[in-house]
Amino acid sequence: MRLEDATGEETGGLRRVRQPLPHDSAARHVTGEAVYVDDIREPAGTLHVVPGWARDATRGRIISLDLDAVRAAPGVVAVLTGADVPGKNDVSPALGDEPMFVEEEIEFWGQPVFAVVATTREAARHAERKARFEIEALAPVLTVEDAVSADTTVLPDYQFRKGSPETGLATARQRLEGSLQIGGQEHFYLEGQVSLAVPGEDGDMFVHTSSQHPSETQHVIARVLGVPDAAVTVEVRRMGGGFGGKESQANHWAGIAAVAARVTGHPCKMRLDRDDDMIMTGKRHDFRADWVLGHDENGLVRAIDMRFFARCGYSADLSLGVVDRAMFHADSSYFYPDALIHSRRLKTNTCSNTAFRGFGGPQGMLAAELMMDTLAIRLGIDPLDIRKRNFYRDGRDVTPFGMKVEEHATLHAVVDELEESSDYRARREAIAVFNSTSPILKKGLALTPVKFGISFTLKHLNQAGALVHLYTDGSIHLNHGGTEMGQGLFQKVAQIVAEEFGVSLDRVKITATHTGKVPNTGPTAASSGTDLNGMAAKIAAEKIRARLVAFACERFQVEPDAISFQDNGVRIGEETISLGQLAREAHMARIQLSATGFYATPGITWDRPSASGQPFFYFAYGAACSEVTIDTMTGEMRVDRVDILHDVGQSLNPAIDIGQIEGGFVQGMGWLTTEELVWDDSGRLRTHAPSTYKIPTASDVPEDFRVKLFGSTGNPSPTVYRSKAVGEPPVMLAISVFSAIHDAVASLNPGEVPELDAPATPEEILKAVSHMKRSRARA
Ligand code: MTE
Ligand code: MOS
Repeated sequence: MRLEDATGEETGGLRRVRQPLPHDSAARHVTGEAVYVDDIREPAGTLHVVPGWARDATRGRIISLDLDAVRAAPGVVAVLTGADVPGKNDVSPALGDEPMFVEEEIEFWGQPVFAVVATTREAARHAERKARFEIEALAPVLTVEDAVSADTTVLPDYQFRKGSPETGLATARQRLEGSLQIGGQEHFYLEGQVSLAVPGEDGDMFVHTSSQHPSETQHVIARVLGVPDAAVTVEVRRMGGGFGGKESQANHWAGIAAVAARVTGHPCKMRLDRDDDMIMTGKRHDFRADWVLGHDENGLVRAIDMRFFARCGYSADLSLGVVDRAMFHADSSYFYPDALIHSRRLKTNTCSNTAFRGFGGPQGMLAAELMMDTLAIRLGIDPLDIRKRNFYRDGRDVTPFGMKVEEHATLHAVVDELEESSDYRARREAIAVFNSTSPILKKGLALTPVKFGISFTLKHLNQAGALVHLYTDGSIHLNHGGTEMGQGLFQKVAQIVAEEFGVSLDRVKITATHTGKVPNTGPTAASSGTDLNGMAAKIAAEKIRARLVAFACERFQVEPDAISFQDNGVRIGEETISLGQLAREAHMARIQLSATGFYATPGITWDRPSASGQPFFYFAYGAACSEVTIDTMTGEMRVDRVDILHDVGQSLNPAIDIGQIEGGFVQGMGWLTTEELVWDDSGRLRTHAPSTYKIPTASDVPEDFRVKLFGSTGNPSPTVYRSKAVGEPPVMLAISVFSAIHDAVASLNPGEVPELDAPATPEEILKAVSHMKRSRARA
């Protein structure tokens, strides 16, 4: 990558932002010095907690539970059940539907019923196995199909309606319909769920945890302990990956650790075993998407009817927002004149599905892109042409949820540039030639767009706070409500604050997220960490700077414009003094050198009940072109080349942004190709370790991988330094891989639409290939 691409003239006098500086913890990550919760030196007397569950129950009523042998096992200090919870036995984010320990009915295979507290983790694990359950089995509802026929839901159905889809479909010249199964995804954060609870005086509890949402974790701990929020402090220095899997799902384990600490009076650590983590925690929602599409002979969409069936698991968790976001992205980048987008949130006896990078958006977009591919095959038109014809543009710019897409020029520019730079047209021809002469190996190509809405669709979450102190030696303490999970948020916010004070990054102390410093925060999610916390920190730093300027004007008798902060010093007229010296003098003059900053995203007016208003501050755009080869004898697939052009506005840190794009793409590719979750007929998850669940590794990164930042002139919306969010949108660039596989399969029988569901594992590809071969033989 050429870093100049991301800087350009607009960077003007900026010295710290826009620089491709390494992640603040990069060196510590690779040397192993970065401290994760399990690396914190344990206080003397720390005990270890392990969750207990019934291994032969998917759904059933607990008739009796005998824990005597568990209590008697070596090293066991306490055994906890629902009866030991001092406050409310509920760890749900909102609806009260997730018991910390099941008391009556087990609702999925792996649901915790009790916990063992012992002197070592091994002792707790051995003891846990000694529980004796008597359970009256109930028939589980497992699949989307089961839940549809049983009509079980965790939340009411919801829909967007635009114009008259019925009339649109009835009057369209042609109609197509289809159905797609979309698999879920395990987060596979490298650091699993973990919390260390340290009891204090007077009922206080201090908890180190790996949570994307420290405030909610604090509130849930207070709820289960039955103490005020103010008695609980939660700290998160960093996570070894979150990916949405710690947005709500950290609360349960932090809650158990806190109750264990309360009951025993000892510090208690709860670190889930990897298998338990995979079995017990929620994942990306799997979906079935059914669609009917009306169009004309040129492939222009006239109307659509899309229905999403999401498997939510046993409780609501974040399914309201996740499935809404699937609906918000069911248009991908395409204008639907008339639309019905309907969703069902199905309740099943499986783990409670949750946030996962893209938060439902990927599922909605995948369905839309498959509709485009289907349309292209049916009409015999290049899929890129079908896509471009249907793009949002002037006069065709209103989404199914009523928001106007203002920045569609960026979408067109990104796609046009990538079409050129990836040599799409020539490669399309070369692939046609290859496929006509290669009997076994077949190639496929796809160029797909990304348009991703930025903001929480739950309006109140679009706020953030920061706390900045300037010490009298000129060093700066930075704190804000965002959490670091590897995405580089802390570094970006530090760059913003360093810019404000004109100092190098070593002067800015990055500190752990702490509910006692910045309270009542939202989760670090929806890709908005930097937009929100970067702005809040900037506002805090600006306050201190303004006080220093006012003081210096008095003290040195100069005008404000004679003062500038640069190179770790402050220029005052002709003179330069160190920031520390100015801070000291200001302190002697009793000027406050500490400030809070608060930011709320402007212009968010979404009203869910009426499905109207503006849910997003802006959209992030991107496009990817992927070429794959499949082996029609074995179903094996290789990604030959990937070109990506992605819009991050004006980058705050091009190195980190490129890292997010590469990582997001590869994670999305894993979701759509190798990562397959398998539950057996009795509802047991069979893929609960890396031996059976295949995430991408370094060797799966496409060998020819060309990632570039779009040369943006800046986010038209007034974000911090005109940057754009980058955390989630790149996941959806990977839809190009799925689409390219679909294209390769389609080459086997021109005009026929492959029956390919996600993930496109070798088995799934082979199935689709066999189907194509059979129908070609019949023809
Ligand atoms: N990158 C890394 N390395 N690790 C993560 O856990 N989470 C992703 C994304 N990138 C994640 C990541 C998810 S799901 C989101 S919502 C964003 O980062 C959150 O951070 P941001 O808002 O600061 O971008
Ligand atoms: Mo990300 S799924 O919004 O934590």
